[in-house]
Amino acid sequence: MGFYPFSNQIINFDDKLFVMQNIKNYIEQNKQRFLDELFELLRFPSISADPKYKEDVARTATFVADKLRAAGADKVEVCPTAGHPIVYGEKIVDPNKPTVLVYGHYDVQPPDPLELWKTPPFEPTVRDGKIYARGACDDKGQFYMHVKAFELMLQTDGLPCNIKFMIEGEEEVGSDNLGVFVSENKERLKADVVLISDTSMISLENPSLETGLRGLSYVEVEVQGPNRDLHSGVYGGAVANPAIILAKMIASLHDENNHITIPGFYDDVVTLSEEEREALNKAPFDIEEYKEDLGIENVWGEKGYTTLERTGIRPTLEVNGIWGGYTGEGAKTVLPAKASAKISMRLVPNQNSNKITEIFKNHFKRIAPDTVTVSVKPHHGGEPVVTPTDSVAYRAASKAIEKSFGKAPIPTRGGGSIPIVALFEQELGIKTVLMGFGLDSDNLHSPNEKYDIANYLKGIETIPLFHKYFNELS
Ligand code: BES
Ligand code: MN
Ligand code: MN
Repeated sequence: MGFYPFSNQIINFDDKLFVMQNIKNYIEQNKQRFLDELFELLRFPSISADPKYKEDVARTATFVADKLRAAGADKVEVCPTAGHPIVYGEKIVDPNKPTVLVYGHYDVQPPDPLELWKTPPFEPTVRDGKIYARGACDDKGQFYMHVKAFELMLQTDGLPCNIKFMIEGEEEVGSDNLGVFVSENKERLKADVVLISDTSMISLENPSLETGLRGLSYVEVEVQGPNRDLHSGVYGGAVANPAIILAKMIASLHDENNHITIPGFYDDVVTLSEEEREALNKAPFDIEEYKEDLGIENVWGEKGYTTLERTGIRPTLEVNGIWGGYTGEGAKTVLPAKASAKISMRLVPNQNSNKITEIFKNHFKRIAPDTVTVSVKPHHGGEPVVTPTDSVAYRAASKAIEKSFGKAPIPTRGGGSIPIVALFEQELGIKTVLMGFGLDSDNLHSPNEKYDIANYLKGIETIPLFHKYFNELS
């Protein structure tokens, strides 16, 4: 019998217990290095949206490839695309064993507004057991758990399944070039399941698995008035002000019940049965804590639905940014020539992003008064997905979480979007398991993004168990 200094479990010759113990010991012995490597990764400003960072994004891809190679992956490659590169690597231990395709993204959202960060976004800093940095949770901290879990498996009990890694650099800008890569590499990407850690769980005490993601339709609208900015005293009151028109048009998109007013918008929405809604609302959720965390007096949303339903199973429409006229220091009296906004709609099954973009466009142009001209420019989109809960892969994930957290996960619906999930189903015919370890309160896309060290290490502990159970149950 060996000596396991970090164990509080009884060591016996039960093989399962030994595997668990090997995992725990390896993490305990290597956790500082696991953290140091993640910090190194977080120092790269891999902002995919900003062309200024193209070189940094490329350097990040090289770093990820190096780490995959060092962990033991074969055929590691930084694959160029028309945009940012995709990192690929694999380890095939036995063609008869099941294959897990791990997907993640090494690109991050822009960190601005910079002045709201307590410590710089690309200098990871630990406060109160949490790593603060852009990408800490979304998705560097989360995909890197898979790289370290892979290393751990190879260094301890071996790989229970074949693994393929595909880590992309354009997720935060709509994965424009991933579709081509996937359809050109169908054979290489062949797998039995896609495993993604890029979503949230309720908490370490209440682990959960997201079983659905919303789709996305994203447009930019512009309201054009006069042919130039005008003196607001000389012309104001006599010429339509595009900023006011835009504000009114946007305001009209919701009615008094916060229902979206675009005709046909809800036509394809799948409504859930009372039982399904009841199950969804059973997930632990503290509305007071939610309001307190966000600093709001009250929540808002579509009448007749709970907060969990509003973000999980109902489509929504948001203004992501709005501008026009003078926004600098002091006061300038001006009637702006134009005003713009970036509008997104989150979609649920069975809505289709192209169709929604089209009906938005028609509606928005139709409600424009004849004093202005309106243009609508579509950006990227993505389709909603529901992932199965009766599959071998879901059961493996559920069992893995139960083993490492001591509690079976609750299925939940996520509000965010990962458009590639629908694409995997369509192009490769593979379903996904969303085994995320982040928290909704991790400030994704916000200043002071964070990831708990505890979640990072718990993820590294849970992932090898997924592979083990996936192999056993397959
Ligand atoms: N990881 C997020 C998506 C997410 C976050 C899903 C939390 C569930 C819970 C992903 O990186 C993301 O931000 N996606 C974008 C869409 C993309 C097309 C820019 C999003 O949801 O806004
Ligand atoms: Mn992400
Ligand atoms: Mn994101």
